[in-house]
Amino acid sequence: MSSVRSAYTDSLNFYGRHTPQELAEIYGTPLYVYSEGVLRERCRDLITLSPHPGFGVNYSVKANANPTILGIVREEGLVVDAMSQGELHLDTLAGFPPEKILYISNNNSPEELRHAAAHSLLVSVDSISQLDAFGRLNHGGKVMARFNPGIGAGHHAMVVTAGRETKFGVMPDNLDEVFVLLNRHQLTLSGINQHIGSLFMTADGYLDAATVLLALAERLPGEVLKKLEIIDFGGGFGIPYHKYEGEKRLNLADLGARLHDLIAGWAAKTGYAGRFLVEPGRYVAAECGILLGRVHAVKNNGDIRYVGTDLGFSTLVRPMLYDSFHDVEIYRAEGETAALDPVKQTIVGNICESGDILAKARLLPAMREGDVLGILDAGAYGFVMASNYNQRCRPAEVLIRADGTAKLIRRRETLDDLTRCFK
Ligand code: LLP
Repeated sequence: MSSVRSAYTDSLNFYGRHTPQELAEIYGTPLYVYSEGVLRERCRDLITLSPHPGFGVNYSVKANANPTILGIVREEGLVVDAMSQGELHLDTLAGFPPEKILYISNNNSPEELRHAAAHSLLVSVDSISQLDAFGRLNHGGKVMARFNPGIGAGHHAMVVTAGRETKFGVMPDNLDEVFVLLNRHQLTLSGINQHIGSLFMTADGYLDAATVLLALAERLPGEVLKKLEIIDFGGGFGIPYHKYEGEKRLNLADLGARLHDLIAGWAAKTGYAGRFLVEPGRYVAAECGILLGRVHAVKNNGDIRYVGTDLGFSTLVRPMLYDSFHDVEIYRAEGETAALDPVKQTIVGNICESGDILAKARLLPAMREGDVLGILDAGAYGFVMASNYNQRCRPAEVLIRADGTAKLIRRRETLDDLTRCFK
């Protein structure tokens, strides 16, 4: 097999003992393919960020919740969050015990809060009214509170999750009200957390926000601070999506060293002996996943060359929703001459909307019918955000194991799956 553009995955031996064309033949397309090796490497990057005894990594499973992926994350020593009953269900299925799951969600119904409490989870509430609601049904128990440090970050306004303009967290000005409710419901404040947003490539904002959270912890009365078990600074660690342009990675060594100094210094100063967590989703899962699809049609409409694929936004919605960039590899059977001169092409999917664009005006070798495409860095917020729009079945997921063999970890949906819930 040969390929037109595959230097990145070749350098990692991403597909193990297979070629992407073989995987597309065996399992069909669209197909999410994950590399166990890359996933484990990313987990290890994070777990070694700080040698502080209480330091840990809380994987945010909203990025990718396949139980096989979660099982590998568990083996690597990470804990997980859950933000819904569904995520809690999958965490449990993947073998996480309740003490390794933090329930970090927002605007829950009383039933959802009761469900989390019934599973003995530590629940983080994100508003004064949720603190009151949770207190009413968990009197005398434990609770965590999410604060809004006033500093946000993210690749798009829709994923900035702190600052006065967002719906998230309790504002630090409202700390007194928190104490009133803790007392009223005899709750122990066991943790505080925050999340400033998704995808930053420099450490400064994250560390500034961590400093704000620690300053808030210092405002807690001594007996409250003594019972605090968890300080969770949130996720947002970015990955370089522009692989073929050599985009620089987030400097994790620098972030880790500075975070370590901050937490070790603060723990020494205050006597805090609890845990410090970071809560990344994307950094763990994005780079281990590639979405394979096939080119079914090529045409010129006016000046634009459209490459029509089976990769509609029901399969990967990020480009359509946030204008996100994903790099593209092109795989073609051996013996066929590749047209290597780059031309401007727009890759589109099979959904009936003009916004169904995966990659706009990309200068790439001319693609043609039958080519298999690899959409890089699709492991986070890929499958989990897929839908059945236009009544398309959601794709299958395959893991390339450490020994290079492939394993189906989620079958492709069928027409029966589409009709399962109708009465
Ligand atoms: N913790 C909380 C409370 C969160 O809300 C999130 C993400 C994370 C942690 C993990 O953030 P990460 O490390 O993955 O940046 N669908 C968007 C991203 C939305 C993130 C929502 N919250 C995307 O595809 O870019």
